[in-house]
Amino acid sequence: MRARIVHARDVVSEAASRLRGAEVPEPQASAEVLLSELLDIRRGEIPFYSEPLTQEQSDEYAAMISRREAREPVQRILGRAYFRNLTLRLAPQTLIPRPDTESIVDVVLERVEKRPKPCRVLDLGTGTGAIAISIAQESPACDVHASDISASALDAAEQNAEANGATVAFHRSDLAVGLDELAGGVHVLVSNPPYIERETLAGLSPEVRDWDPPVALDGGADGLDFYRRIFDEARPLLKPNADIVLEVGDGQAEDVLRLGGAAGFTPLETHRDLAESVRCVTLRWHG
Ligand SMILES: C[S@@+](CC[C@H](N)C(=O)[O-])C[C@H]1O[C@@H](n2cnc3c(N)ncnc32)[C@H](O)[C@@H]1O
Repeated sequence: MRARIVHARDVVSEAASRLRGAEVPEPQASAEVLLSELLDIRRGEIPFYSEPLTQEQSDEYAAMISRREAREPVQRILGRAYFRNLTLRLAPQTLIPRPDTESIVDVVLERVEKRPKPCRVLDLGTGTGAIAISIAQESPACDVHASDISASALDAAEQNAEANGATVAFHRSDLAVGLDELAGGVHVLVSNPPYIERETLAGLSPEVRDWDPPVALDGGADGLDFYRRIFDEARPLLKPNADIVLEVGDGQAEDVLRLGGAAGFTPLETHRDLAESVRCVTLRWHG
């Protein structure tokens, strides 16, 4: 019996309808991204890809689709995520960097531009290193430091910095605890801390709840624990007139600015992400 010839466009539409049947969000996009990455082509090329899939490719794609059907995120299946200009390796202990976070890098770069070089930037809770590595790559005159509580996240971040040709000094710390060597020397502190209200964690989508590490999500009872800690603990690290740039969850901006104000910081601005949601706040430390 002759083997069945399997074409990319047919295999994608079969996979998308399987994912649709399993109520996986954005089934067509998942099916297309997984196949285009497997074949190393662009998504738009799929309808015109005329080479039949090999048996090995068909089997590998079927396994990917089964994982997606079980609600594993596309990036975890591929083992990598894209962020600004970067390709970042993921580990189980790293959050998948979100497109929402890309605009925070722009806010930091604007702040950095106004300062004499070398400008020391610290990324607290770096995960894959997405923010820190982007800053180091896009503003090479910065002296970029990054820390995380998770040793395996730091391993992944270090590998990501090297793979993307960026120089970042990584530190293991519990927020500011363990960063004494940076005392009084940070011009711009940036953080995307865990900010999900603990009670709502169980109701998150399976892609987040079952696959992102809880340590990257859990912001305590009201989601604001890490902001309190950052305002309290980061002060000794900062230079006079340092800026602090923080990602915030939906509806948290005012509370975070109020907490910063109460801790002696001057609230400066709120910033929107590409979806027009307020995603980041900036404050200044006058020392
Ligand atoms: C929301 S994730 C952000 C990751 C990355 N910066 C990004 O934007 O994709 C928060 C990060 O904070 C780290 N983290 C949690 N608690 C911490 C602590 N006490 N000290 C340092 N890092 C912490 C987590 O391991 C995680 O990598």
